[in-house]
Amino acid sequence: MTAPSGLTPVVRIAPAKLNLTLAVLGLRPDGYHDLYSVFVPLGLGDRLSLTPAATATDSLHVTGLSTGAPAGTDLVLRALEATRRAVGGGWTGSPGGLSPAPAIAARLDKRIPVAAGLGGGSSDAAAALDGALEAWGAELDEHTRLAVAAGLGSDVPFFAAHGPALVEGRGERVTPLHGLRGAPGILLVTPSVAVATPDVFAAFAAIRGTGDGAVRQSSIHLASELGSGLGAADLAARAGVLASANDLLPAIALVVPAIVPFRRAMTRLLHRPIGLSGSGPTVWAIYPSLAEAVVAAAAVEAAVANGSLDVPGDGPPFVAATTIAGSLLTLEPTASRRTQP
Ligand code: C5P
Repeated sequence: MTAPSGLTPVVRIAPAKLNLTLAVLGLRPDGYHDLYSVFVPLGLGDRLSLTPAATATDSLHVTGLSTGAPAGTDLVLRALEATRRAVGGGWTGSPGGLSPAPAIAARLDKRIPVAAGLGGGSSDAAAALDGALEAWGAELDEHTRLAVAAGLGSDVPFFAAHGPALVEGRGERVTPLHGLRGAPGILLVTPSVAVATPDVFAAFAAIRGTGDGAVRQSSIHLASELGSGLGAADLAARAGVLASANDLLPAIALVVPAIVPFRRAMTRLLHRPIGLSGSGPTVWAIYPSLAEAVVAAAAVEAAVANGSLDVPGDGPPFVAATTIAGSLLTLEPTASRRTQP
């Protein structure tokens, strides 16, 4: 496919995220919940390439990881269209500045499991937004850029901010936290059960409706520490508090009851606190280094293979060792990944 002259392909890594804490403050009139959550980007990421194309419409070709869950990748196409609308009919690169920005041929290599609580679809959308602007040589003022991001999904503004952050409101209030030193290792285990986020929030509303104040306190404390300075080993030492600092834990236990014994079995296997990312079903453990997370990933894979770890779902889990990415946007993931076929 030929790119319109003067425009070049753009490649973006779309990182996964982890919620180190997730306080749910209550239901809003618009049907969403107010959150108070510390989000961190991970080294594990999808790879999105965008090529301006001499075609009438945008296209998307997806390769890579398939979890058997719904693809959920249409957000890339929605992001391209929303960004084109925001740039406006008068794209400055067109003759006389009269035409909309050109079509894009997108290729997405999925490395983040979908419907897993890792934010993959939202991250792809943020990468498509910023990548399209770069491919078109266009700019949006910050207010418009963040409004486009928020319109695509609650988690997208976090990914548009490129770093650890305190996320509030529905997800649109993002305060960067610049104090993480080093690169803590993260073990991720995603059972092959697709979890729909609305189902988990609906279960939350049905049983509680409002979060546990202790989770909010843990979030406030961690945000303060990550704002001023916290090393990788110090973060790993706080894993016990963080692993229970997720108000959606009782809700996921209703939606996927097998998560409860699975978390317990993981704790017994690894002798580490095991947390839940977002609405799940991905669970995590924090280590001072990537090397320790790699050892833990091998232990999980061995336990799955010899049948001593019972994981919910029809197939083998996705298992990965990666790192928390600091404040700077990492162009290539540092993750050492392990997946079962
Ligand atoms: O914004 P997004 O489409 O990613 O949200 C998916 C679903 O998650 C919403 O429909 C809602 O059920 C739930 N949600 C929520 N409060 C938030 C974010 C998401 O209730 N702050």
